[in-house]
Amino acid sequence: MTIPTVQEAHTLLEEAGRLNPGPWLRHSWYVGDAAARLAAHLPGLCPDTARSLGLLHDIGRRAGVTGMRHIIDGYSFLMGRGFDQAARICLTHSFPVKDLYFSVGLWDCTTEESAFIAEYLERTAYDDYDRLFQLCDALALPEGFCLLEKRFVDVALRHGFSEGTISRWRATMELRSYFERTLGGSVYRYLPGVVETTFDFGSQE
Ligand SMILES: [Fe+2]
Repeated sequence: MTIPTVQEAHTLLEEAGRLNPGPWLRHSWYVGDAAARLAAHLPGLCPDTARSLGLLHDIGRRAGVTGMRHIIDGYSFLMGRGFDQAARICLTHSFPVKDLYFSVGLWDCTTEESAFIAEYLERTAYDDYDRLFQLCDALALPEGFCLLEKRFVDVALRHGFSEGTISRWRATMELRSYFERTLGGSVYRYLPGVVETTFDFGSQE
């Protein structure tokens, strides 16, 4: 399986940024950085792979301002380049709960795309990379690393609250506990600046 190098991932993200500039680029950078920092302490995970996959997890936003179809756009874009695992993360990172109706934001995929995603999730047994990006997506604002609960509220304020929201929050908090059992402590100790970003200290200076 071909994994894009960190340099390739940066190049693809920069190209995407020219097509659709926005805060999602900084968010992607921090997701990659969080994943790399945590992967360095997790057996079986490679920090460079984690960084590349994190940089590319939202790459479907290169297609423009869309809702949840950014996940299938990212999947198709990366599959077209032979980056199967990076493509997989585009789909799985949005589903700590394997249910399309528990996703966040506007569902603007076609019926066929929705059926494909549902079937893909059903036949995919999550591994630690899938779990890592489901967690790291919720640890990174465009401004930096943050408390999970801050990101939960940030997303809810922008995309609304649905019947699946609490289930997603619970599943994501369980992922934090899952990795913390291996790390032997809090994920936050590996995320520099998390206190400053969470409490907006940076903006005061
Ligand atoms: Fe994301």
